[in-house]
Amino acid sequence: MTITPADLAWKDADTPFNTRFQDIYFSTDAQAEVHRVFLEPASLPTRVNREPRLTVAEFGFGSGLNFIVLATLARQAGCRLHFLSAELNPFRRTDLARTRGRYTDSAQRAMFDELVTNYPPLLPGWHRRSLGNGAITVSLFFGDVRDFVTELAARHAYGVDAWLLDGFAPDRNPRMWEDDLFPTMAATSRNAATVTTFTSAGRVRRGLEQAGFAMRRVDQRPIKRESLAGVCENQSPRPVPPSCVQVLGGGIAGCSVAAHLALQGIAVRLVEPMGQLATHASSMRAAQHARLLADGSVQAGWRAASHLYSLAFTRGRQGLRSGGAVQLPGPNATVDKLERIARTYADSGDWLAWADARTIGGLTGWPTRHSQPGLYFPDAPAVDLKLLSCDLASTPGITIEYGAGADPALPTVYAFAHGAIRHPQFGHYRLHALWGQLETVTMSTPPALPVLGDGYLLPWDDCVMVGSTYEYTPWRPEAATTHNLAKLAGLDFTWRGRQRAARLTTPDRMPLVGSLGEQWVSLAHGSMGATSAHLAGALVQSSIMGWIAPVSVDVAGSVDPARFGRRQQHRQHSR
Ligand SMILES: Cc1cc2nc3c(=O)[nH]c(=O)nc-3n(C[C@H](O)[C@H](O)[C@H](O)COP(=O)(O)OP(=O)(O)OC[C@H]3O[C@@H](n4cnc5c(N)ncnc54)[C@H](O)[C@@H]3O)c2cc1C
Ligand SMILES: C[S@@+](CC[C@H](N)C(=O)[O-])C[C@H]1O[C@@H](n2cnc3c(N)ncnc32)[C@H](O)[C@@H]1O
Repeated sequence: MTITPADLAWKDADTPFNTRFQDIYFSTDAQAEVHRVFLEPASLPTRVNREPRLTVAEFGFGSGLNFIVLATLARQAGCRLHFLSAELNPFRRTDLARTRGRYTDSAQRAMFDELVTNYPPLLPGWHRRSLGNGAITVSLFFGDVRDFVTELAARHAYGVDAWLLDGFAPDRNPRMWEDDLFPTMAATSRNAATVTTFTSAGRVRRGLEQAGFAMRRVDQRPIKRESLAGVCENQSPRPVPPSCVQVLGGGIAGCSVAAHLALQGIAVRLVEPMGQLATHASSMRAAQHARLLADGSVQAGWRAASHLYSLAFTRGRQGLRSGGAVQLPGPNATVDKLERIARTYADSGDWLAWADARTIGGLTGWPTRHSQPGLYFPDAPAVDLKLLSCDLASTPGITIEYGAGADPALPTVYAFAHGAIRHPQFGHYRLHALWGQLETVTMSTPPALPVLGDGYLLPWDDCVMVGSTYEYTPWRPEAATTHNLAKLAGLDFTWRGRQRAARLTTPDRMPLVGSLGEQWVSLAHGSMGATSAHLAGALVQSSIMGWIAPVSVDVAGSVDPARFGRRQQHRQHSR
């Protein structure tokens, strides 16, 4: 499940050396080399000042030096940068953190610190992170460069403005420089896309020329003789993203889509019929924690990706309480199942850990109550969905219209949850409103952090939220209260009130996220909207802009609204 990290030796305190490829990541004049070899010959310092938006694709993310230098320039110039990079053997976060001494400039240091904080775990595939207040997007692909290029050609209609080829030297790492990669690069290039690389190998120059790049040698004396730079002219125009999009629904799903679009410079009309945002399911305080699976399914992929993406995307925003959470065995997860989850993800990083009953007792502050082990998520926050929705909707570029109708002339994203049940366009999805209830109590000794398992206990200020029910047909509120409070048997508490709302669900319990042609959806987040709404926001924004989705084709397919039609066709064909 995990990907092999970089095998490093350290030449001095902050200079890594790759022992597998027997090569360095950067030379002693690292920053000057980035400018001299990769940025200047591609005119990138000028282009970030000229272009509102640039897409750069790199072979070999390594320590992220190229990224940090370019992202800092782009941020200072006000250019929105999308930096996509492939890395087969990623640094561990601790190794990455060791290279901090490379950055003496305070703006670069700030960008680097943000990268380290949000650096993905060592799981194969795509990881998207939004840095610099959303101006910088980094899409890391942990895997082989060949899959990276193939995926970009197939799924990134937006195209690439500049390629940085920074694999180890061709004689030490020929796989990174195979001829057939170059035509695929050309096919993914926007008009006048540049390529720069430190190598001067004739084979690489000829390969790029044959693929359509006009190449030249760049004098690198006295450091080395030369490097290569090129440009790919006469490419066909690429689709242009819309300048304005309308989002229907001001819950967490709609607000997250709106924020993702606005952060990319797309004006958003956010329509909400009630007089305020997040009045329904998104008025809850919730656990921002996807109940992980370890069965290798696409659902497992979606949940892990949602969890990790939401942690990074919401970090530091209003409404978040980041104290960690524990997950104990419950009706849907036996000890064995939780242990499997721990084993599946344990080597990928420190975002989850297996904890024995004693450790759990220490974490919750209830030393004698727990008799079973469980999972500990050190970063998982509790979230006030209303505060977070309002924070996301305050992103510059979003105009909120309360009580207004839909504008039929605008590209539209439907994120109106139960509003879809009565909408003719969504009749055939068999959407269902699954009601739920949360209690608010005060306790003499509340848990120190959210405890999930059989429902959840969520401490918040002086209160604890206790929930929640799953009501296929709505229960009497008093009956739901009795059901919820049974979780507090043996504890000293006072009941303070209840909150009810409907969760929208599909028959397969996965959300509906993606494109319906010229319209898009982020619907049916069920009982996991606190995590899934954000990855959904990124998927919808990507689809609208022609960007590759930040998850695999299979995982994107598991939430694609077209999946039900596909399954039906498959059943008909196999009869
Ligand atoms: C009791 C309970 C506990 C929960 N606990 C958790 C938890 O711990 N963790 C977790 O991840 N999730 C939890 N959830 C689920 C989570 O709350 C939802 O998944 C999430 O809030 C759904 O967000 P949404 O924006 O899709 O829907 P909503 O919040 O329902 O927002 C939809 C919005 O669309 C608006 N609307 C309706 N019709 C129209 C229209 N025609 N045009 C425009 N707008 C319209 C509505 O007014 C509403 O503001 C819980 C849910 C409940 C009920
Ligand atoms: C010279 S280093 C890159 C330095 C990096 N750009 C930086 O700024 O630190 C080359 C990188 O290519 C990666 N790499 C090697 N073979 C690869 C492959 N087949 N696919 C993807 N990455 C690969 C290595 O792990 C290494 O991190």
